[in-house]
Amino acid sequence: MSVFRHDRAADDRPDDNQTMLSSTDLLVIGLGYVGLPLAREAAFSGLTVVGLDLNTELVAGLNAGRSHVGDVPASDVAEMLRKGFRATAREEEVGDPDTVVICAPTPLSADSAPDLSAVRGAVEATGRMLRPGMLIVLESTTYPGTTDEVVRPLLEKASGLTAGVDFSLAFSPERIDPGNPVYGFRNTPKIVGGLTPACTDAAEGFYARICDQVVRAKSARGAEMAKLLENTYRHVNIALVNEMLILCRELDVDLWDAIRCAATKPFGFQPFYPGPGVGGHCIPIDPNYLSYKVRTLGYRFRFVELAQEINGQMPGYVTDRAAELLNTHAKAVNGAKVLLLGVTYKRDIADQRESPARPLARRLLGRGAQVSYHDPYVPDWQVDGRVIPRAEDLDAALADADLVILLQAHRSYDPARLSRGVRLLLDTRGVIPAAPHVEAL
Ligand SMILES: NC(=O)c1ccc[n+]([C@@H]2O[C@H](COP(=O)([O-])OP(=O)(O)OC[C@H]3O[C@@H](n4cnc5c(N)ncnc54)[C@H](O)[C@@H]3O)[C@@H](O)[C@H]2O)c1
Repeated sequence: MSVFRHDRAADDRPDDNQTMLSSTDLLVIGLGYVGLPLAREAAFSGLTVVGLDLNTELVAGLNAGRSHVGDVPASDVAEMLRKGFRATAREEEVGDPDTVVICAPTPLSADSAPDLSAVRGAVEATGRMLRPGMLIVLESTTYPGTTDEVVRPLLEKASGLTAGVDFSLAFSPERIDPGNPVYGFRNTPKIVGGLTPACTDAAEGFYARICDQVVRAKSARGAEMAKLLENTYRHVNIALVNEMLILCRELDVDLWDAIRCAATKPFGFQPFYPGPGVGGHCIPIDPNYLSYKVRTLGYRFRFVELAQEINGQMPGYVTDRAAELLNTHAKAVNGAKVLLLGVTYKRDIADQRESPARPLARRLLGRGAQVSYHDPYVPDWQVDGRVIPRAEDLDAALADADLVILLQAHRSYDPARLSRGVRLLLDTRGVIPAAPHVEAL
């Protein structure tokens, strides 16, 4: 039989009770940084879309036309609502979806093991609404084998149906790059890998309706691995330049200049840049999913563990450099006024998840510094429950600080302006023009 829902036989149609609910092309479970942009693209492509999220405040906000995701303006949510989108926190209100895409979070547990509880919860909800012909896709980043070993059994148990026979099941990694003005959902190629070739067909057919290019993986495992390969590749290369940064200082070499020169090679080299540490979800968290899976095989994924160690030590390195810099100007960290510029994990976005600014501030506070911050995207900021004062007047704050540390080179920061009128500036992004009072990390 065809497992694509649009070919569903009349016998498979919902009973009278279910037909009271409207038909839905797509149900997105989890309306966060990944789920909401997907729902927007599908709604804008003419699909009937419903979003299910446990967070009732978020659901109420969306239904009132508000957005909680930086890349999705409120005007887009309003347009989605006009096109029929609605959000709900109640499973029984989702209608009769043809396709369900799960975008639940995949954090780490306290002992750094994968925490799949949100994915399981979303899969169990999907299992309760599963009917023959449906397509189920997991988009949450996870270790290879999750779709087959975790999602499939839960769906089959809840529904009594068989994946690859009665319904389609696939994995499709999300490649969203928050704040990227060029590449969004539609023009970033979408990888799909099904449990069977027919499952891949179904996933390919679905995503072809909402994005420009669909790439077929040989299996769900291959698609899961592709995502982790992408993330681990960045994690390891950032760790490489971070470690080189520390060595280069000892060797009296300007690594930023070496990267600039190396990047002129038209083949075989991609530039990565050092910084105060890695943040967000994709780099510090996701590769742990892969190293966890590798450990179940009885050995360790050393590249990931080493990258974790090197990138994790960068906030400490920045603290030491800050202390050294103050010291050369006869100032102790204890009592020094230190202004942090840009506390988000990435430039030009508001997301602070896993931002290295927090461990850095914790260390500086621990050494007695008076820490304040400025960030156009962050109206208030706390570190371990302690409110960090926000500098409202940037020029006055720059002039007042004993040391300014540039952590995130938001586009709204003019490098020349930052360098003017500061006593000392530690530039962790290599963007401030050289000057006697400016030190590159
Ligand atoms: N944020 C990114 O840039 C990014 C990029 C690529 C991949 N990913 C991956 O995508 C997945 C989702 O990430 P995110 O950033 O969108 O997370 P998020 O925390 O922004 O959003 C997840 C949403 O899911 C909801 N949720 C949790 N459990 C649920 C359940 N059982 N039923 C319904 N809703 C539920 C939460 O309330 C939340 O609103 C993760 O696996 C992440 O690793 C994220």
